[in-house]
Amino acid sequence: MSRVTLTQFLIEQQRNENHIPADLRLLIEVVARAVKTISVHVGKGAVAGVLGSAETENVQGEVQKKLDVIANELLLHANEWGGHLAAMASEELEGPSLIPNRYPKGEYLLVFDPLDGSSNIDVNISVGTIFSVLRCPEGVVDPTAEAFLQPGRTQVAAGYAVYGPSTMLVLTVGTGTHGFTLDREFGAWVLTQPDMQIPPDTREFSINASRARLWEAPVARYISELQAGTEGPRGQDFNMRWVASMVADVHRIMTRGGIFLYPLDERNRKNGGHLRLLYEANPMSFLVEQAGGVASTGRERVLDLQPTGLHQRVPVILGSRNEVERVVAYHREAL
Ligand code: AHG
Ligand code: MN
Ligand code: MN
Ligand code: MN
Repeated sequence: MSRVTLTQFLIEQQRNENHIPADLRLLIEVVARAVKTISVHVGKGAVAGVLGSAETENVQGEVQKKLDVIANELLLHANEWGGHLAAMASEELEGPSLIPNRYPKGEYLLVFDPLDGSSNIDVNISVGTIFSVLRCPEGVVDPTAEAFLQPGRTQVAAGYAVYGPSTMLVLTVGTGTHGFTLDREFGAWVLTQPDMQIPPDTREFSINASRARLWEAPVARYISELQAGTEGPRGQDFNMRWVASMVADVHRIMTRGGIFLYPLDERNRKNGGHLRLLYEANPMSFLVEQAGGVASTGRERVLDLQPTGLHQRVPVILGSRNEVERVVAYHREAL
């Protein structure tokens, strides 16, 4: 059986007519290597004493888990050494992390959510890593937060790793969304799901329903229609799934379709939403669009938002085209 590895895939992407630059290919390889190391740590669990809280607080006001801190350090150290970056930004850091002078610098900015779904670590449920690659604005030497404030449509690559029963890396460089599975014996990423496609229709939705009383009218209407099943206006039953690790919920949608919503609600309105635009919404929206899905805030395309802050939060509604478009239409009608 001939297996295409991540390295082969990226070299072919570099050679074909869409040719990604060599330094972007090498940058992605460094990220993939760091992710492999995170996967080892996540996989050891209690044996390595990596579960539980670190008892520090991050800039989001969250108590960090030990693995939030470990994953963040692994990504920072692997990538500052790599030579292709001007700076990095992370969910776990207040401001940009610059490249130490002892290392060469490059033209890209790397943005990441080192450990997504960290409330699930201690209960042994899938967690992940999300990343996004932007070009550093021309002439900027030591990038400040401002350099990162680019609309998601300018991303040159994005991906997530999901540490589940198997470890997977799902990647886009703007030529479709492609899934790789980690072969633990060989240490290789094997292309197992080329050109992933999100089906346009679905009977599965994903939302934290404990917040139902806080939703805006268009979301409340949409979800109640789904819950009404065969007796409601949709005339069919819908199933619900909520892992509370965005990577796992999005990965399910990438695999078999679905709609994911973390909408604006009465309580998160003061923050602009729940999920982070740069670390979560933009990379996931790029991956979803490249797989034929749609990603919106309910009011506009996620990838068209002009970011105003590194840690900005936004509403996110993404997945199967026809369902997301329906929710967007309900917003248009109501607001
Ligand atoms: P993180 O663990 O990186 O802070 O992200 C958590 C996010 C996301 O993964 C998930 O979809 C959502 O928060 C879960 O929110 P609830 O706690 O409301 O379920
Ligand atoms: Mn967090
Ligand atoms: Mn997250
Ligand atoms: Mn996180």
